[in-house]
Amino acid sequence: MLMYNNMYRMIFNRRFERVDDPLFVELKRLNGERSRLAQSFEYNYGDFIPILWPFLRKYLELCQKVKDESLRLFNKHFVEEHKKLIRVNPPSHDEKCAIDHMLDAQKNGEITEDNVLYIVESINVAAIQTTLWSMEWGLAELVNKPDIQIKVRDELNTVLGKGVPLTEPDVPRLPFLHAVVKETMRLHMEIPLLVPHMNLHQAKLGGYDIPAESKILVNAWYLANNPEWWEKPEVFNPERFLGAEKIEANGNDFRFLPFGVGRRSCPGIILAIPIVSLVLGRLVQSFELLPPPGQSKVDITGKGGQFSLHIAKHSVVVCKPIT
Ligand code: HEM
Repeated sequence: MLMYNNMYRMIFNRRFERVDDPLFVELKRLNGERSRLAQSFEYNYGDFIPILWPFLRKYLELCQKVKDESLRLFNKHFVEEHKKLIRVNPPSHDEKCAIDHMLDAQKNGEITEDNVLYIVESINVAAIQTTLWSMEWGLAELVNKPDIQIKVRDELNTVLGKGVPLTEPDVPRLPFLHAVVKETMRLHMEIPLLVPHMNLHQAKLGGYDIPAESKILVNAWYLANNPEWWEKPEVFNPERFLGAEKIEANGNDFRFLPFGVGRRSCPGIILAIPIVSLVLGRLVQSFELLPPPGQSKVDITGKGGQFSLHIAKHSVVVCKPIT
């Protein structure tokens, strides 16, 4: 709900008050279904073994159905409702949220009505689950590594003062917390193969001929876990980001590309890193984070798919208030 409210405030200036709000429940169902379908390797079978294409019809029909349902829902409950609202009460420039700017662009003929819906739908999918997966991995690592959790808490207490709640402008002053977030994204890269790209024209790259219209998958997880470049890459060790060499997540270093690189890289990096840092930092400030009762560790077995690497089983983490 936290992630939904963050994004929906920015896009529509709306928030959900309750987890059982029927619209929230339906959104979660559709996003979950879309994410499950996108993680499937099914459609790739057809790319590599074209003879299997006819057997994918059911899968593709389901994809179409979920897409149509989400677009209808966004149109009816968000875009049209917002249009009604601003007809009665037009926002001033400072009050405008993302959808107002998209509707302005539509009015100016820069984009179409369909474009507006697709932008809304793709931001919804791209932003929410990826950021949630990072929070889950980070939380699990902090529970399983109490020494690292203590270091994060010590840094917060030293830089901000005990009991002073972490806020967004503080994040750049907390290098260890930032390193924990980057290390989480390195070891558990949420989109391990990035998003498929296609070159329109024939190209030569690193001595290889790449035919036009090739589907390119970048194994960014391996780049960030290649033992030739990373010492003991299988170990969760935030300190590796605190050396003299500054490795950032913004595409300045090909060893670490959790958000991709270049023109089609993730525009959400400027939101995702502060949000994950804030959530993990606030939790560590307020609670001692412990494994589920009767267990010594959170189960961090991962589950991978075409577009994701996330925790396979959800655990209940114990939050013991810090007095
Ligand atoms: C930890 C959180 C996130 C991760 C790991 C992540 C990662 C990625 C990756 C790997 C790509 C594809 C880049 C490529 O193939 O070169 C991408 C694309 C994208 N992301 Fe994110 N993302 C996150 C959060 C967000 C947020 C919060 C938003 C929105 C506010 C967002 C919006 C988008 C959009 C719109 C694209 C498509 C860009 C394009 O095709 O031009 N992402 N993201």
